[in-house]
Amino acid sequence: MGKRVLVLNGPNLNMLGIREPGIYGAQTLADIENLCRTTGTELGLTVDFRQTNHEGELVTWIQQARQTADAILINPAAYSHTSVAIHDALKAAGVLTYEVHLSNIHQREPFRHHSYVSAVATAVICGLGASGYSLALRALAEKL
Ligand code: DQA
Repeated sequence: MGKRVLVLNGPNLNMLGIREPGIYGAQTLADIENLCRTTGTELGLTVDFRQTNHEGELVTWIQQARQTADAILINPAAYSHTSVAIHDALKAAGVLTYEVHLSNIHQREPFRHHSYVSAVATAVICGLGASGYSLALRALAEKL
């Protein structure tokens, strides 16, 4: 089995394709999952891809990743800007973490400019749409 990457997606990302396509693009979350799976197979990574609208569920998955994953790739969505709980969980898990955003959060409303996750992420990719996920997986495969 290859190195295991847990790909976590936060609230409203299940609405991709319908939700503000001018900002987030036309691709659905299923398209992004397929992209991650294809890229993972090419790189020899085992990809566990998940989405939830619940902060506590993300915290539980991050806690479990200590035993079950070699790295986390997370798009915390709106929780990026609000969640000390996700920041703390990532810090406690001590698992290599890369953060990804479809949009360039620094170009948008001021409340999106700060991410609580960035302080505990080794790397951040934003503004590249779905490609950000596959680029992050490539970078993780090199690092692992
Ligand atoms: C997002 C950016 C966040 O500000 C927003 O709340 C999201 C998606 C992105 O991928 O660009 O839901 O994380």
